[in-house]
Amino acid sequence: MRALVVGGGAREHALAWKLSQGGGVDEIYAAPGNPGMAGIATCVPIAADATVELAEFASSLKVDLTVVGPELPLVLGIADEFARRGLVLVGPSRAAAELEGSKVFTKEFCLRQGIPTPRARVVSDRDQAAAAVKAIGTPVVFKADGLAAGKGVQVCRSGAEVDDAMVRYFEERSFGAAGERVLVEECVGGEEVSFMVLADGASVLPLASARDYKRVGDGDEGPNTGGMGAVSPVPLEPALATAILREIVYPTVAGMAAEGRPYRGVLYAGVMVTAAGPQLLEFNCRLGDPETQAVIPRLEDDLAPLLRAVAAGELGAQRAAWKREAAACVVLAAAGYPGASRRGDPITGLGDALARPGVLVFNGATALEDGRLVTAGGRVLSVVGRGATVSAAVAAAYEAAATVRFEDVQYRRDIGRGLA
Ligand code: GLY
Repeated sequence: MRALVVGGGAREHALAWKLSQGGGVDEIYAAPGNPGMAGIATCVPIAADATVELAEFASSLKVDLTVVGPELPLVLGIADEFARRGLVLVGPSRAAAELEGSKVFTKEFCLRQGIPTPRARVVSDRDQAAAAVKAIGTPVVFKADGLAAGKGVQVCRSGAEVDDAMVRYFEERSFGAAGERVLVEECVGGEEVSFMVLADGASVLPLASARDYKRVGDGDEGPNTGGMGAVSPVPLEPALATAILREIVYPTVAGMAAEGRPYRGVLYAGVMVTAAGPQLLEFNCRLGDPETQAVIPRLEDDLAPLLRAVAAGELGAQRAAWKREAAACVVLAAAGYPGASRRGDPITGLGDALARPGVLVFNGATALEDGRLVTAGGRVLSVVGRGATVSAAVAAAYEAAATVRFEDVQYRRDIGRGLA
């Protein structure tokens, strides 16, 4: 079987690595891939959002299975391009990917389907936003409607922060077309849980539990990032998992089918567990990064058959077996991240990290320059440790991370802290 992985980050490296472990996959392509993936896949210089070019490439090579890492190609309709050519791709159609592509669509969908979610108003200018803030009160959350590279959400806890958001969203128009419509949403308190499932349009298969660490600094200080680390598993009360499935996930999959947008792919729900029960904050239409780097190594089964079942609508009674071991991922980021990140710094010590038992290193933003591996963006490497417990996995990840060097490397020192 020939497989194609779309994307070039550490999440995609983890997917390619798992596909390379078995499941009938003989050849792997990655577009565009990265130097770390080059050892297990043929990297082709096609951008992840070049949806037509990717479909033509997959068609010409008779690729049997394509899996998409990032959200942008899905929101742009890569699944539709592949379906038109009779190619198997795991990921929602453009219409179904609206669950991530438009926060306004999702909010209105939740209201239509009775899915619990914080109340909100849709606004498009400063006056409407001011009226919404007055009605909802502070704290309040501003959310750009469209994709904004993870930067479109701002929590405002005071009048001064609301003023700041007004400038960013309605004067500077910082989010371009993605910010033409904005949700002004009630800020609900509680514990935030990420919940990832596979869905085949009708059936749902939950993936192993995971937690990511969003802020750049220890103790969840500093600005938001794509994620600075992850662990799997994490304690998740069975009753809470059942409530999230019953109140959010199942009604979403059923509602999307009923509305003529059957959802096939990964559905990632960002949920706030409030005193009144779980409430949907947002959906992603793809696997989390770096959650995938901690979850995928724990999958006992081969990945390809599971993905093919999703695409074929045959998830049915399928189960996924997870290893009892834990995994922890520490993201090594470049100087400046999550702002402008320094590039071109040589990376050393990967061999020492990889020589440690159970350790995996997935490349994120790396490049080859004159034959040397160098940094090429914000989240450079995901170092994954595995062990019998989360704390053993975390220790293994940090010991390996300490052997990897590049100028002004930054990483959190508290991934998995407090977990046994
Ligand atoms: N780690 C969060 C995300 O992938 O959106």
